[in-house]
Amino acid sequence: MVVLQDVNKHFGDLHVLKDINLTVHEGEVVVVIGPSGSGKSTLCRAINRLEPIESGTITIAGEQLPEEGKALAALRADVGMVFQSFNLFSHKTILENVSLGPTKVRKAKPAAAKARAMELLERVGVEHQAEKYPAQLSGGQQQRVAIARSLAMEPQVMLFDEPTSALDPEMINEVLDVMTQLAKSGMTMVVVTHEMGFARRAADRVVFMSDGAIVEENTPEEFFTNPQSSRAKDFLSKILAH
Ligand SMILES: Nc1ncnc2c1ncn2[C@@H]1O[C@H](COP(=O)(O)OP(=O)(O)O)[C@@H](O)[C@H]1O
Ligand SMILES: [Mg+2]
Repeated sequence: MVVLQDVNKHFGDLHVLKDINLTVHEGEVVVVIGPSGSGKSTLCRAINRLEPIESGTITIAGEQLPEEGKALAALRADVGMVFQSFNLFSHKTILENVSLGPTKVRKAKPAAAKARAMELLERVGVEHQAEKYPAQLSGGQQQRVAIARSLAMEPQVMLFDEPTSALDPEMINEVLDVMTQLAKSGMTMVVVTHEMGFARRAADRVVFMSDGAIVEENTPEEFFTNPQSSRAKDFLSKILAH
């Protein structure tokens, strides 16, 4: 579903993505972990073409990412992305936030888009907040709305970049639960997270990045119990110690 081949990118002198090769199959959930600054967000942004790459190829569902124009807009709509910050439209209701993309980009009929938006809000458990504005919701609720908004575009792949990092601790699980359900439903997902419980529970594969490179790739079970590289061992000892 997502194939990266020999992808390279620099920010000035910094080699931020080094010969990245990664294949995510349909229905697969890949969790990307690694120290801060290792290139995880840049990788997500490259998959969505928010960040140009210098060499290599990225294909989504067999199609190479176009450089720009309409084809790029269409492909981007196939890739849902949920960030750390929710980025909901503050002056629109929750329901409008979720139904807007389908009507504007997918040319859905307003009534159909609204009905579908309500279904999705139910799925993420915030249907009673439909007529409220984002600021009236908790962070966990807002992030669940952000997930619903992405799903409304019927993406083929969902990217999550540290979706729970900005949340108060008591709200993390409600978001991870929605993501776990989504994973079970067969969605193809790439998830950058420090939530090791989620990785163990939901990931088919863990990819460990360090200094712009994929250092290790394994099943969660193998990765957590038997990391191979010294960098992964070091990272896990720090993150599992607290
Ligand atoms: N727009 C940018 N310009 C210059 N350097 C950047 C930019 N975005 C990220 N970087 C640098 O690239 C490296 C990788 O960043 P990032 O992909 O955000 O890492 P991660 O998400 O793993 O923390 C970091 O050293 C960061 O400072
Ligand atoms: Mg990041």
